[in-house]
Amino acid sequence: MRDEEKLRAYFTGAPSDVCLEDIDLARIPRHVSFIMDGNGRWAQARGMARSKGHVAGVDSLREAVTTSVRLGIDVLSAYAFSTENWRRSHEEVDLLMHLFAKTLIHEMPLFHQENVRLVFLGDISSLPRQTYDVFCQGLDETRDHDGMTFALAVNYGSRAEIARAARNIAMEVASGTLEADAIDESVIAGHLYTQGLPDPELLVRTSGELRLSNYLLWQLAYTEIFVTDVLWPDFSKWDYLRAIRAFQARNRRFGGVDTA
Ligand code: FPP
Repeated sequence: MRDEEKLRAYFTGAPSDVCLEDIDLARIPRHVSFIMDGNGRWAQARGMARSKGHVAGVDSLREAVTTSVRLGIDVLSAYAFSTENWRRSHEEVDLLMHLFAKTLIHEMPLFHQENVRLVFLGDISSLPRQTYDVFCQGLDETRDHDGMTFALAVNYGSRAEIARAARNIAMEVASGTLEADAIDESVIAGHLYTQGLPDPELLVRTSGELRLSNYLLWQLAYTEIFVTDVLWPDFSKWDYLRAIRAFQARNRRFGGVDTA
């Protein structure tokens, strides 16, 4: 439930080009998803180690969580670590795994205060033990929260997710609990990590890259995509409003035609 008073207070001091009044609060997307890109470039541009960009990226993610809650968004999802990201240096992977665990512990009071339920997209069971344990604790502690759902994609790859769904569906058919003829889109959706969540209505990708990078390929079928040149550590609540304003200016037809 959106708290209008908190919402207005949160968006005071707007820059000249965007403000809360630009947004139609009756048409806020239910699910907004982020590809958080540009941490490394943000750091390198400042002569800093890439790790500093990831640390700065945590602040942007916290702000995105708060902004989503204030706007009354049902689901916020974010791509934190892909199945391809294991190819990065040992140091960077270690840093990220440690940062995920540390951040989750640190942000738990925010999740409780804002009634945020945490879920993970991806195979978290193969993460380093400490990170996995902290994630499981986060899942346990927020299971009964019925405000916004925050879905963090970690060790996530869309093709691997679809292959896993196919495997599980095949096993159900082999065991006789599912008829092959009964496999339809909803059965497949129900075997993805996002089961039970609405598809994203808006995908925001930072740092100007025009790729999906193996992210939510099934779920993004009809999603509006907003790409900004802003690097993730610089992404603010105002950039978030700009993305929603652009989303609301579009005409979503879902393959149909205009009736107006
Ligand atoms: C992309 O930037 C970012 C990542 C691969 C990691 C995302 C992690 C965070 C935002 C840290 C906070 C997250 C949590 C869950 C605590 P990049 O390294 O690909 O940047 P580049 O394209 O400029 O190299």
